[in-house]
Amino acid sequence: MLFSGSFETCYRANLWSRLASRILWKIGDFAYADENDMYEAAKQLDWPSYFSVERTIRVNVTAQKSPLKSLEFATLRIKDAVCDRFREATGRRPDVERVSPDVRVHAFLEHDRGVLYLDTSGEPLFKRGWRAGEAEAPLRENLAAGIVMLSGWRPEEPLLDPMCGGGTLLVEAAAMARGRAPGAKRSFGFEKLRAFDRDLWERVRREKKEGAGTPALYGSDNDPRAIEAARRNLAAAGVERWVRLERSDILERAAPAAEGVMVANPPYGERMGSAEELARFYPRLGDALKKRFAGWRCYFFTADLRLPRLIRLEPSARTPLWNGALECRLYAFNIVSGSHRRRGGP
Ligand SMILES: C[S@@+](CC[C@H](N)C(=O)[O-])C[C@H]1O[C@@H](n2cnc3c(N)ncnc32)[C@H](O)[C@@H]1O
Repeated sequence: MLFSGSFETCYRANLWSRLASRILWKIGDFAYADENDMYEAAKQLDWPSYFSVERTIRVNVTAQKSPLKSLEFATLRIKDAVCDRFREATGRRPDVERVSPDVRVHAFLEHDRGVLYLDTSGEPLFKRGWRAGEAEAPLRENLAAGIVMLSGWRPEEPLLDPMCGGGTLLVEAAAMARGRAPGAKRSFGFEKLRAFDRDLWERVRREKKEGAGTPALYGSDNDPRAIEAARRNLAAAGVERWVRLERSDILERAAPAAEGVMVANPPYGERMGSAEELARFYPRLGDALKKRFAGWRCYFFTADLRLPRLIRLEPSARTPLWNGALECRLYAFNIVSGSHRRRGGP
């Protein structure tokens, strides 16, 4: 998504976006045919005006239909351009740091054009700074927030994740309901840039959202280690008092309220249950929903496209989503007792 605005907007977008992975600041674009054109274009930019030579840097290049043979060489040439520009201006060059650089430069190359960006986020925005408990296959925080938003859940409705793992969906839902900024516990790339205005940032950071609700959130999992991880994550995020956790099997647990929204990310794939195990699990899951969750809107996020057929319920929506490179679906089921049975077919 493309938008323009002041640094205040940039600070606010980084602090408040629950869905973005990074907010990039476009600082130049160019036409190119080879690495030399790219080097010259990158060297035209006044890098010392953007950040100090003391800052460590890292360059990332992504390309689509680029004629260049080696992206590694392209990365090196852009890094050289930045360093040469610094050396000419100051007699010194910034150091490269691969793991936790102060400043990240991104270049996106297309067939004959490229764009250069400074990364105002630093670490990707799905790293919110609250992950304390280790759980298997946790969702990325921005994907979890997107799933909760797509469910249409309103904070005054009960919300249950009955396969909560490390509790990502619960933390994100609680943060939304409480008006907590997703970036409140972390730092950002823009703090390392020359344009950084600490007073303005402190002001933006202190802004409060009105009307924090008192959500009723519930989480369960049949693995005690998952419950422990969820407990630690909820505590680190400061939202544990809004969430009731218990160890139970989704096939046996009762609904915590007459109506509500269920969001879950069932196990799938090699690591968390074989295809055969899941094929036996889904029909039982469908039965449990019909028996105990009439009145609930249930949302399952999975890469296993057999789920609606095997659960034997008719989805009211199937939203395609990507989990990294893995194509997934968010299936919605409105559970009404005795109805919505599937009538055969794939
Ligand atoms: C893919 S993980 C969920 C990850 C979670 N969304 C997160 O972000 O951390 C699936 C979870 O389902 C749990 N699970 C599997 N079968 C279950 C069952 N029958 N009842 C309850 N939980 C179950 C597993 O223990 C695992 O924690």
